[in-house]
Amino acid sequence: MKNRLSRIIKKDGRTLMLAVDHGYFMGPTTGLEKFDETVNPLIPYADALMLTRGALRNYVDPSNDIPIILRVSGGTSIIGKELLHEGIIVSIEDAIRLNASAIAFSIMVGADFERDTILGLTQYIDDAERYGIPVLAVTAVGREMKRDAKYISLASRMAAELGAHMVKTYYVEGFEKVVESCPVPIVIAGGKKIPEQDALKMAYDAIQAGAAGVDMGRNIFQSSNPVAMIKAVRAIVHEGATPKEAFDIFKEESKG
Ligand code: R5P
Repeated sequence: MKNRLSRIIKKDGRTLMLAVDHGYFMGPTTGLEKFDETVNPLIPYADALMLTRGALRNYVDPSNDIPIILRVSGGTSIIGKELLHEGIIVSIEDAIRLNASAIAFSIMVGADFERDTILGLTQYIDDAERYGIPVLAVTAVGREMKRDAKYISLASRMAAELGAHMVKTYYVEGFEKVVESCPVPIVIAGGKKIPEQDALKMAYDAIQAGAAGVDMGRNIFQSSNPVAMIKAVRAIVHEGATPKEAFDIFKEESKG
C-alpha cells in the first residue's frame, strides 16, 4: 500500500494527477476525442494518470510506467436521469491485472443514492485493502448540493472515515478547514474549463490551504496549449511557483 501511494504522492508530499476518465459518463469529451493524441504528450509531466480501463487498454502504451489510478465506479451517463447513481464497473481482479496503483470511486453524499454509492465505496475498499491497493474517493457534487466548505468537509471526512486513502474534491472558499478535518491527503478536481490564469490561481490556493495536489482534467486538456498548461500546473504543485510565475510559464511555453 505504501509503495503504491509513494508512486503517486511524491517525496515532497505532492502530486499532479492527470484526470482523463471523463469518457465513462461523457463519451468523447471535448479535447479527448483523439485520446492518445491529446494525452500522450502530457504523460511525462503527470505523476499519475486517472482513467478508465477501456482508455488504458485502447490508448496507452503498456510499456509506459506512469502510475495508473483506475476509475472503477460508474454506470450512468450525462444524458441519463440518474447521473449520481454510480456502482462498481470494474472487478478488483481486473484492476490488479491492469496493474492499477490506485483505484478511484465516486460517492454522492447528500444525493438520493448516497447510500448505494457509499456502500459501493466501502465494498471496494475492502477488496482493495486485501491486495494493498489505495482508494481515491471522489466526492462528487450534485446540482442541488451547495458547494461550500461545510459540505465539502462533511463529504471528505466521511470518505476518509469510511476508509479511503486519498480524497478528491472541489476547491472552495475556506479550504483550510476541509484539509484540517480530513486525515488523508486531499487533491482538488479542476472542474469545468475556466481561463488558464484562474485555474492556476485555484491550484495555488488549494496547495496553500494544504491540499496534496490536483487531479485536474479539463483545465489541462481543454487548454489552448495543454502541454504548456500542465507544465505551469506542475510548477505550482512541485516547484512552489506563484500563480503569476506559473502563468508566465504557460505563456512562454505556449509561444513554442
Ligand atoms: C469526474 O468525476 C471525473 O472523475 C473527472 O476526472 C474529474 O471531474 C476531474 O476532472 P476535471 O478537472 O475535468 O473536473
